[in-house]
Amino acid sequence: MCGIIARIGETDDAVDELLVGLENLEYRGYDSAGLAVKNGRGPTVFKREGQISNLKDLLANEVPSGELGIGHTRWSTHGPPTDENAHPHTGCSDRVAVVHNGIIENHDALRTELSERGHYFKSDTDTEVIPHLVEEHLADGATPEQAFRRTVQRLSGSYAIAMLVDESDAIYATRSGSPLVLGVREGKYYLASDVPAFLDFTDEVIFLDDGDVVVLEPGHHEITTLDGEPIERPTQTIDWDPEDAGKGAYDHYMLKEIHEQPTSLRQTLRGRADPVTGDIHLEDFPPGTFEDVERVQFVACGTSYHAGLVGSNFIGSRGLPSQTFLASEYAVSRPPVDENTLVIGVTQSGETADTLAALREAKDGGARTLAVTNVVGSTAARECDDALFIRAGPEIGVAATKTFSSQVVSLSLLGERLVRDVVGHRSEGITDVLSALSDLPDHVQQILDYSKAHRIAKQYHDSEAYFFIGRGSVFPVALEGALKFKEISYEHAEGFAAGELKHGPLALVTPATPVFAVFTGRHDQKTLSNVKEVEARGAPVVAVTSDANEAVVQHANDVLTIPETHPDVAGILANVQLQLLSYHAAEQLDRPIDKPRNLAKSVTVE
Ligand code: G6P
Repeated sequence: MCGIIARIGETDDAVDELLVGLENLEYRGYDSAGLAVKNGRGPTVFKREGQISNLKDLLANEVPSGELGIGHTRWSTHGPPTDENAHPHTGCSDRVAVVHNGIIENHDALRTELSERGHYFKSDTDTEVIPHLVEEHLADGATPEQAFRRTVQRLSGSYAIAMLVDESDAIYATRSGSPLVLGVREGKYYLASDVPAFLDFTDEVIFLDDGDVVVLEPGHHEITTLDGEPIERPTQTIDWDPEDAGKGAYDHYMLKEIHEQPTSLRQTLRGRADPVTGDIHLEDFPPGTFEDVERVQFVACGTSYHAGLVGSNFIGSRGLPSQTFLASEYAVSRPPVDENTLVIGVTQSGETADTLAALREAKDGGARTLAVTNVVGSTAARECDDALFIRAGPEIGVAATKTFSSQVVSLSLLGERLVRDVVGHRSEGITDVLSALSDLPDHVQQILDYSKAHRIAKQYHDSEAYFFIGRGSVFPVALEGALKFKEISYEHAEGFAAGELKHGPLALVTPATPVFAVFTGRHDQKTLSNVKEVEARGAPVVAVTSDANEAVVQHANDVLTIPETHPDVAGILANVQLQLLSYHAAEQLDRPIDKPRNLAKSVTVE
């Protein structure tokens, strides 16, 4: 959803560092990329349609030197992906260069007004109004900082902006509704849409808030309100290893992140649950934290929505009323809430605009809000009353994998805390669940070592469509299996509640539509009946189940085996098999797995 980066220092290698930052941000958009650099005069702009490799080709003969610069990778919202629409944008002259993530909602009115005053626009973007406005204020005698502030005052919508001007050797930046973080390192500064962008250079970070204006000069930074009041923001050290954010020996981030799950799950679980005593220790949520809660609502998008569905199944089946909503729908038709309603936003990035809008709606209605997120300092973490971190480490692949597993584990632990506080006692059999969770990293490793997903993806590679079914706690896993499959393979894939198949989707089932059926050891007979209905129509069935489930194993054409475990945990294991299936299907079709067309990892517009 567009990524921005900026860098200022006392050495003239800004472009090298901006390119590294842009590559680290490419998951946020890859329709075009560009940068602007200053070297005595300038700024000088370089930009190209397409992936960052095109920009690098443009710079291949001579990397421009400069101590400060800004960069951008784009996911198009206004105007097609062309060279002209690529950022940075300049005004009528090249005195001002701007990169922007977000949407300027009043850009039409501003463009009309500026055009009437003689400004000439080169792009279709909403962003271009910004350099033109700055240019006018400079012409009126404002300093660059005054011009920047006066321009920002005219904007409505969401934005993170960084700007270079000819008149000064500073970078000017601000945020409102779009993420922007400041990296600090001995005389150098970085600004970016997220931390992994500059993790190669520094792990010292200042999280900025909406409304902050930042002016950066070598060795000096100033954060103020838009009105110029100074603001102190603490510097924090991030404990993500830059290696974690690299691809290592893997062909794709997605495969790397699938294989990281034993480690990320250990991090998620560390110190939080004791399967022997049944105790749960969730940092900021001691026993009694949720005594006043009467109902829980989850809001989320995409893969996180599926994790939310697992979460509400876990909580609801233990006696606490719970529902999951698509955040974009919740934001426009919120169900009733009160101060006894806990609204949990599940969001890996903590920046998804739909989820933030739903959480704000909930807060406006008087609900208590909690973010379950992977990113410390993210907007969701800061805006909600509380935050629980899933501790999965950076996830770069657009297709969410390890964060789904860590979300589900985190929601199970949080769910049990909630049930104990509200229902008043431990849920039945919880030590078995906790024990299965503690075995989870090893069980996932077994799947990674022995999965037949590669062979099965090959066997069914020319099918007409791919269907996924599950019941109860693994209905969301069927949805997630299909989402993953369609988003990276571009093949038609749908997930259904197993029992719902006969109420319509069965009409689509033919010998050319394999059905992947997920079993947990609970409700299996019913799902097996659905499998028989499918087989009667000639469709091949691949069961995702443990070997202990003999009736199912005997019946299916193929099996993706998972270790035997508790039914509440089996879905995480089944999902790992389905992640591998999608990956191998997409790989065999030679798809750009880490950058699926039209998609972005972090969607910061509604
Ligand atoms: C985008 C991504 C999905 C992700 C969803 C929610 O659509 O492509 O993979 O699940 O956003 O992201 P979040 O950061 O809120 O979990």
